[in-house]
Amino acid sequence: MNFKHNILITGGAGFIGSHVVRLFVTKYPDCRIINLDKLTYAGNLANLKDVENCPNYRFVKGDIADLGLMRQLFADFCIDGVINLAAESHVDRSIKDPFTFARTNVMGTLTLLQAAKETWEKRAEGFAGKRFYHISTDEVYGALRLTHPEGIRSELTGTAYGDDLFTETTAYSPHSPYSASKASSDHFVRAYHDTYGMPTLVSNCSNNYGPNQFPEKLIPLFINNICHDKPLPVYGRGENVRDWLYVEDHARAIDLIYHEGNVGDTYNIGGFNEWKNIDLVKMIIKTVDRLTGKEPGHSLGLITYVTDRPGHDMRYAIDSSKLKNELGWQPSLQFEEGLEKTVRWYLDNRDWVENVTSGDYLRYYDEMYGNR
Ligand code: NAD
Ligand code: DAU
Repeated sequence: MNFKHNILITGGAGFIGSHVVRLFVTKYPDCRIINLDKLTYAGNLANLKDVENCPNYRFVKGDIADLGLMRQLFADFCIDGVINLAAESHVDRSIKDPFTFARTNVMGTLTLLQAAKETWEKRAEGFAGKRFYHISTDEVYGALRLTHPEGIRSELTGTAYGDDLFTETTAYSPHSPYSASKASSDHFVRAYHDTYGMPTLVSNCSNNYGPNQFPEKLIPLFINNICHDKPLPVYGRGENVRDWLYVEDHARAIDLIYHEGNVGDTYNIGGFNEWKNIDLVKMIIKTVDRLTGKEPGHSLGLITYVTDRPGHDMRYAIDSSKLKNELGWQPSLQFEEGLEKTVRWYLDNRDWVENVTSGDYLRYYDEMYGNR
């Protein structure tokens, strides 16, 4: 079968990547979607069971930092578009093991850029019709101030906890090894555009939540702990603010930017949906208690204040007006609705959680694809 385009999606077995792969495989049957993933602890092919037999889907196990393999992949599959989601993504892990983050997020992205450049330059049409889209985070911008700790009403954002927002022109100021590695990879992507004329795009998104997120991140970790009556470790005083977006809304934004974004541009993606951690934790408790038939507030006693995360950024809040005004994107779900959907998914998929927390799925992949 001849495909119109061959799109390489890296990190497609992870949380956001699995939603992006599913969207592209089902929406674009005339395009071949190649999912390249190393299958680290965060990659789980069970996330893609429903599309794994589609004729336009291919999975390849591999490392984005392996230049030989990336060259081979670009040649074998005639790749003409890349969406790079492969990354180490958890801030707490980056504090313990920064080298792994530099290797995958910095060297991996650079390797992918170089393989794309070499391959595309050799083709008659050069960079024409090609796309290299890099997925990044709002954490590269650093931290905003908490000037309204009780929150104020804002026309644009609903409740706001400060006076400013991250825009596409906010200067980079990363604080964690994770965000430093993402910032570095963003700079390499832009450098390949400015130096070699590569057709690149970058987007910086706020905190995602929804199905398939590894239960080390706040929302799935706390849903799981409440189910098992385990303590809920709130860092510091729980005053930090994050801007939450449902993962399928992020996947829709990625689709739009990949197809209609201006080459060389950056787009911020966020839900105008700021929550103070402690308020969010109380809302998770309320939702889980209600859906599991417990007395309202039953699990409030599980809240445990623990030592703060080192370098913990106080507040993130994204201004996604450019994406709305130029490409017409907006989030489709209210937060209450998205959170309830998410809690229901974790309650209905306890086997998935059991599998990833016990590590059983890794043993299964080792048998299928060999040890890493
Ligand atoms: P995730 O940790 O759930 O998934 C990452 C995926 O990348 C996994 O499938 C993993 O196996 C794969 N991977 C890791 N190292 C690899 C390597 N060297 N080669 C190939 N594959 C490798 O991450 P996520 O939360 O889905 O994040 C995806 C991307 O989106 C990341 O680039 C992240 O920085 C960015 N992002 C995440 C959020 C969020 O809230 N989760 C928000 C904004 C941006
Ligand atoms: O902003 C986008 C980023 O959001 C992404 O780039 C990252 O990949 C993603 O992991 C996420 O980073 P955060 O550090 O904001 O997410 P996390 O879920 O780890 O933490 C959310 C907030 O909750 C943060 O202020 C730290 C706090 N927290 C987290 C955990 C895991 C706790 O208080 N206790 C916890 O146990």
